[in-house]
Amino acid sequence: MPSGPSTPLLQKIQGRIRAEGPLTFDRFMQLALYDPAHGYYCSRVPGKGSHYQTSATAGPWFGRFVTVELQRMWDALGRPSLFTVVEAGAGLAELAKQAFAYAGEMGGALRWCFIERFETVKQMQQEALGPAARYAEWATCLEGLPVEGCVLANEVLDNFPVHLLEQTFDGVREVCVDIAGDRLRTVLRPPGPGLVDQSVLEAAEYLEPGDRFEVCPDIVDWCRGAARAIDRGYLLVIDYGDEQPDIWRRGPQGTITTYGPRRLSCDLLEDAGAKDITADVDFSALWSAAQGAGFDMELLALQRFWLVSLGLPVVVENLTDRVKQSAALGRHEEAADLDEELRQVLALADPDGLGGCLVFRASKGFEA
Ligand SMILES: C[S@@+](CC[C@H](N)C(=O)[O-])C[C@H]1O[C@@H](n2cnc3c(N)ncnc32)[C@H](O)[C@@H]1O
Repeated sequence: MPSGPSTPLLQKIQGRIRAEGPLTFDRFMQLALYDPAHGYYCSRVPGKGSHYQTSATAGPWFGRFVTVELQRMWDALGRPSLFTVVEAGAGLAELAKQAFAYAGEMGGALRWCFIERFETVKQMQQEALGPAARYAEWATCLEGLPVEGCVLANEVLDNFPVHLLEQTFDGVREVCVDIAGDRLRTVLRPPGPGLVDQSVLEAAEYLEPGDRFEVCPDIVDWCRGAARAIDRGYLLVIDYGDEQPDIWRRGPQGTITTYGPRRLSCDLLEDAGAKDITADVDFSALWSAAQGAGFDMELLALQRFWLVSLGLPVVVENLTDRVKQSAALGRHEEAADLDEELRQVLALADPDGLGGCLVFRASKGFEA
């Protein structure tokens, strides 16, 4: 299989392999997405240069629904005078923009802390926020003084680097990335130390030789960081994924997917740095990592049902009525705009698309 044209990033990956031997898939993914100079995310985010949309970039409504959720959290915490949202990987700051615009009574208390490792993206976020940026700060990782509020991540954990494992006749093996001539190829190696835990052994029982699955140890550290960042408050994670054991049964090749300019390519190693790489989130693993970090579990629900609990049906009814009224009054442009807004809201709840994401909420430091 070709690995795409020779690029500085491909040369760097090949150099690393020549020096250290085959790379585990998580290290390949780390370089492909987060290399400071050439990684996919060093200059791209959904809505600007990337090859797909998220709920946050599919119109303003997702941010407004998230704002309702944040208002409920603020209420449950007893309306503290400072309520800080610590958002990891905020893309174009769409959620913060909507929250500052629709905060209502929470407005005076609302602060936003962006966890963003790339300067270029930080600048995009500052520009997108405009004057509201004075209520925001930026950090490169989850640390600092703990706050009252919420750690939030929408479609971020599916971009965490994962180890790729394969069930074989001789037990579980780790899929690594090696060089063949001027190309990259996968090879199987014994799994790295500490990787084969109880859940890996359990996964293997569901799989046939040749089947692949992923594990994401970074989730454990990230949840610990979230627990350190939040004194009293919440963890809210929204993402594509599933619970065990269904996550292991999603497909024989596992759940890693790439999004890039070459639509027909299904080679995970091709065009490193020019395409996104995602793996479905194992919400059972997230659940136990959050619990281990000190959070109490509150909710695991499909996005479409969670949005219903935040008022989606009322919004749909209201927009539908307004489309009809505008059309009846002959205001066709206005009707078309409202119809587009309605389409965006319905897309958030589409069972075969964004509505199939899972929403995970946990709390810490108070009786919810
Ligand atoms: C798919 S984009 C989602 C952007 C935005 N949340 C949205 O919904 O449009 C994933 C983003 O998460 C960032 N990211 C990945 N791991 C991260 C981490 N540990 N901390 C902060 N950001 C992270 C990536 O750099 C990327 O910008």
